[in-house]
Amino acid sequence: MPIRVGDVLGDYQVTGVLGRGGMGKVFRVRNLVSDREEAMKVVLPDLAEDPALADRFLREIKVHASLQHPNIAVLHTALRIESRLVMIMELVDGVSLEETLRQGPVELPVAAGYLHQILTALAFAHARGVIHRDIKPANILIDTSGAVKLTDFGIARSAGAVHLTGTGLAVGTLAYMSPEQIRAEEVDARSDVYSLGILAYEMVTGAHPIQADTQHAMMNAQLNVMPRDPARVNPRVPRALATAIMRALAKDASQRFQTALEFRAALRAIGVEAAVAPGIPAPAVPSPTAVRSVELAQLEARLSRAIGPIAGRLVSTAARRYGTISEIRQALASEIEDPKERAAFLKAASGTTTDPSATATMATRPPSAPVVFDPAVLDRLTQALAEYIGPIAKVVVARAARTARSAEEFESALAAEIASPADRQRFLAVCASNR
Ligand SMILES: Nc1ncnc2c1ncn2[C@@H]1O[C@H](COP(=O)(O)OP(=O)(O)OP(=O)(O)O)[C@@H](O)[C@H]1O
Ligand SMILES: [Mg+2]
Repeated sequence: MPIRVGDVLGDYQVTGVLGRGGMGKVFRVRNLVSDREEAMKVVLPDLAEDPALADRFLREIKVHASLQHPNIAVLHTALRIESRLVMIMELVDGVSLEETLRQGPVELPVAAGYLHQILTALAFAHARGVIHRDIKPANILIDTSGAVKLTDFGIARSAGAVHLTGTGLAVGTLAYMSPEQIRAEEVDARSDVYSLGILAYEMVTGAHPIQADTQHAMMNAQLNVMPRDPARVNPRVPRALATAIMRALAKDASQRFQTALEFRAALRAIGVEAAVAPGIPAPAVPSPTAVRSVELAQLEARLSRAIGPIAGRLVSTAARRYGTISEIRQALASEIEDPKERAAFLKAASGTTTDPSATATMATRPPSAPVVFDPAVLDRLTQALAEYIGPIAKVVVARAARTARSAEEFESALAAEIASPADRQRFLAVCASNR
């Protein structure tokens, strides 16, 4: 029986559809016990056929549920519901990189920020012996604050068994597979480095490094054909970045970066922002260790004035979830219902000291502090921008709001996302009337 919105499965009520993938559908659900909104991925529609395979899935999935990192979507649990196997995950409010890439290449500093976060998550998992095995745009979600959340950790090995017994490998999967994966050899961290190299190439050029019409051609290219230099596809890609991407894409794993940390260090050393037009904001990168407790205490004191003693718990949850003070501040502000109080909290709280993420990215950002925008204005501008660029407006606004140093810079960063000059003018007129 297909699952429909409104259905109740075990303790979960289905409230919407989030997406569809090679292995099943992803639903938005409400946990009827905790009232929490979560994501439910139905991995196998019917377990009756192969209970041994289902057991193996459950065992593997439970290992990955232990990965707790700000850039990894938490896998809460995996369970059987009415002979179906489902994964219950953290609900990520945002868009996948697949959707983002449909709009074309990603600005270099933004791509750099995403790569930094993905590599941080990969280094964390690799250190625990977990290889992702299925790095691809659909498995990288970007939440509304610009933070990366990697999904589907490590399940590709089991997934491969399913895909192979059916109609063969999907082209979409092959497009990010390392040569050793294609040869069905044992893989290690360097396989994830390769897949991320493909993704990095795609982000900075807007084109996949391999143009192949058939599965066979794709496999052959992954094994034997070096892609065109990304700096020749997009001349704005700095030489050093192109070289790093090509190194990640070496056919021979021993010629690649040997670890995610090595790849990340190389990207950091490049200083990408120097190569792009000024005024493009760099994304913040969560860096939980860098958040100082004194700033959290200040936030807690201010928040408790608005919502009382529960502030303490909310601050520690937000501090665990978000890396930078500005993200924590935004998350806490959303707990305050009254818009006026929320604006007052944001204004007072923005006096906290510098954002540590500014030094955590590979880009160098001028030291002046970002301005804090009224949430009501952000909502209105998100709606206005969405008319031109669709739901991704949410992410664009959140990102620009975090880094803009003036209202003008903020508005022009948003307007720059609109392709047609006439539409851009119309949007800027809406901005002006909102001031
Ligand atoms: N935790 C989540 N929170 C919000 N949306 C999600 C979540 N997980 C997945 N999605 C959405 O559902 C889409 C499909 O996810 P899914 O993992 O099933 O597909 P896939 O990655 O394309 O394929 P595969 O089955 O190979 O993993 C994603 O691209 C994303 O848009
Ligand atoms: Mg997926």
